[in-house]
Amino acid sequence: MKAVAVVPEEHSVRVVDHPEPKLEQPEDVLLRILDVGVCGTDREIARFEYGTPPPGSDYLVIGHESLAEVVETGPNVTRVKPGDLVVTMVRRPCARLDCPACRSGHPDFCVTGEFTERGINGLQGFMTEQVVDDQRYMHVVPAHLNSVGVLVEPLTIAEKALLEVVDVQDRLPWLSEDAIHSGTALVLGAGPVGLLGTLALLVRGFDTWVYSLEPADSAKGKWVQSVGGHYLSAKDASIAELGAKTRNIDLVYEATGVSHVAFQAMEVLGVNGIFIFTGVPSRKAPIEVDADLLMRNLVLQNQLVYGTVNAGSRAFENAIQDLAKFYETWPDAVTSLITGRYAPEEAESLLLGKSEGIKQVVTLRGE
Ligand code: BGC
Ligand code: ZN
Repeated sequence: MKAVAVVPEEHSVRVVDHPEPKLEQPEDVLLRILDVGVCGTDREIARFEYGTPPPGSDYLVIGHESLAEVVETGPNVTRVKPGDLVVTMVRRPCARLDCPACRSGHPDFCVTGEFTERGINGLQGFMTEQVVDDQRYMHVVPAHLNSVGVLVEPLTIAEKALLEVVDVQDRLPWLSEDAIHSGTALVLGAGPVGLLGTLALLVRGFDTWVYSLEPADSAKGKWVQSVGGHYLSAKDASIAELGAKTRNIDLVYEATGVSHVAFQAMEVLGVNGIFIFTGVPSRKAPIEVDADLLMRNLVLQNQLVYGTVNAGSRAFENAIQDLAKFYETWPDAVTSLITGRYAPEEAESLLLGKSEGIKQVVTLRGE
């Protein structure tokens, strides 16, 4: 069976012949993969900057943003049935008995660092024809989301971040419970994580601003306006100017992975504000930041800063519900986030070429 893999010994990315998986445990489910999204992590893996094949394998099958159809189920499977569309979670718990996070079903908060991740660290990924996994990692996606369901995993980044916002905003008891806040949010970056985060903030009632490199009349700038957000191009205004235009910035959702942009934006975070990092920069030279200003603001304005990686079951459930909501409200905008579909044979140039469009997808649907 076909799979797209990185082969460290050859320093190559290519289609390999990968053995067909079989049901082994009573909770196992056999999936036919439909779509696999490509993200920055995959591009890093393809450049051999990140990622590890499973022990004993010469290659790592990549792909962690999946959408699949259930083909066959083991005798104890109750969560899914043949024909269901599913998204499978990425991270698997570490084996250590002293990891309270993994032992309580929260490997996204693993404290030992010995977790594995499908398509990233120590486990084969989803960019292949068929996959077997335990039902407990699968989440059913409604059939009408077939064409956009591959966006669930990248959306879980925002969903996990926003679950934590709900938790920490308990500190502000006058805010209403379901609309976390109808404040002002600033999204940094108009890639898939930024734009899906924008929709998640809009459906929660935030007045949402997106700040990114592309000009205001670019496809991304127009996209943001079409869903009811405000778009400001870095070509037209600095972050300080943006800060002067908006009301108190209650939340910054960073999705660029560019540290100097992030720390400038931290300077405009408002009173009782929350700053969330999701980007993973590569290590470069140190940058200068106005640390006294940031520290004064953090203290004098009760600000919070946190980072978030990976996602647990609740974030996947919320992502599926939210994606359905987005698709109902903005069908064209959601569909247009997927800017290209490619065959597995085209994955190499997709992963190593210039990053273009919004979400590029490798499809295994066949003709
Ligand atoms: C994936 C996460 C993963 C992280 C670090 C991201 O691209 O979405 O699931 O935890 O990379 O490996
Ligand atoms: Zn752990």
